[in-house]
Amino acid sequence: MNVPFLDLKAQLPLIREEVEERFSEIITNTAFISGKNVAEFEERFARMHDCTFSVAVASGTAANHLAALCCNIGPGDEVIVPVNTFIATAEGISHTGANPVFVDIDEKTYNINPDLIEDAITSKTKAINPVHLYGQPADMQPIVDIAAKHGLAVLEDAAQAHVASYKEKKVGGIGHAAAWSFYPGKNLGTWGEGGAITTNDEELYEKAKKYRDHGSAKKYYHDMIGYNYRMSEFQAAVLNVKLDYIERWTEQRHKNAHLYNSLLKNIKEVVTPFESSGRYHVYHLYIIRVQKRDGLQTYLKEKGIASGIHYPFPLHMTGAYRHLGYEKGSFPVAERIADEILSLPMYPELIPEQIEAVCDGIRSFYA
Ligand SMILES: Cc1ncc(COP(=O)(O)O)c(C=O)c1O
Repeated sequence: MNVPFLDLKAQLPLIREEVEERFSEIITNTAFISGKNVAEFEERFARMHDCTFSVAVASGTAANHLAALCCNIGPGDEVIVPVNTFIATAEGISHTGANPVFVDIDEKTYNINPDLIEDAITSKTKAINPVHLYGQPADMQPIVDIAAKHGLAVLEDAAQAHVASYKEKKVGGIGHAAAWSFYPGKNLGTWGEGGAITTNDEELYEKAKKYRDHGSAKKYYHDMIGYNYRMSEFQAAVLNVKLDYIERWTEQRHKNAHLYNSLLKNIKEVVTPFESSGRYHVYHLYIIRVQKRDGLQTYLKEKGIASGIHYPFPLHMTGAYRHLGYEKGSFPVAERIADEILSLPMYPELIPEQIEAVCDGIRSFYA
């Protein structure tokens, strides 16, 4: 059976008509930027995450950058970041002129290990930027406590964690600002590019809106040098339609994850995802750790089963961050798991037969 890694076409029949209606209205009104879809989305997205404010932007990377800028991070500063994440988390910091300082991850959740954060703090540290990686919230309580003790900001990278929660609290409003991505394959995705920041801080919100639009709250009144980080109305229209489905889709991801767990639990070469207590993991990705990973991936591919690796290199091993001077061996957990992790197909529309085919493939490889 053919099992694609992601199947955006499977979602189309449910939402296409509604999206096309909204697109048609945008075209009729020729209101392409900063119109009513963006305003509606910001209001609903903030409310959905128990936040007071949200600012829609052009991409998740723009959101990472804006969140850092709005927390006054700039040249010479340092921000603590998990070494296992997508590069955009670190890029958002680097774009301000600051440097990311990497910290190793927890072996079970693959999120930043809070026990290692204090050792990474220096006189230049301005913020801690945990990532709710794969859809599982980072362990926020100790992070918020360390930040408060040292007078640091907390930036959440929630790009993979729409509607996830930590101890009954939705992610996105736990730190000072959170960055979100709506890349098409995300749990909540545009049909193009999109991102947002959420916050409960009104001053930060006003600043983010200005940075997004050339440093101005009013056209041509440029109080500062900003960016063009605006979201298109078309993308906000897609998101507004999808907001009606995101909770249902997330429950379906959960069901799929638990079916995978039950079918894989007796294969001794496979470690299934660990869900920490008190967290609602939204399974943007379903990650297993395995022996002979590359062989398994090739074997599955031959059977028509796609998989991915998120991520093949911890950030200190990428060319982009070589200049920071970290040696191989600096982050033993992240370095080890990078050779063992495999992302299996995960989306709401997966059918049980597809999940069974993936698990049968894995079982037959080890047999
Ligand atoms: C953890 C994380 N941060 C940031 C981003 C950046 O988002 P975008 O691709 O929308 O710029 C992504 C998504 O690709 C991501 O997975």
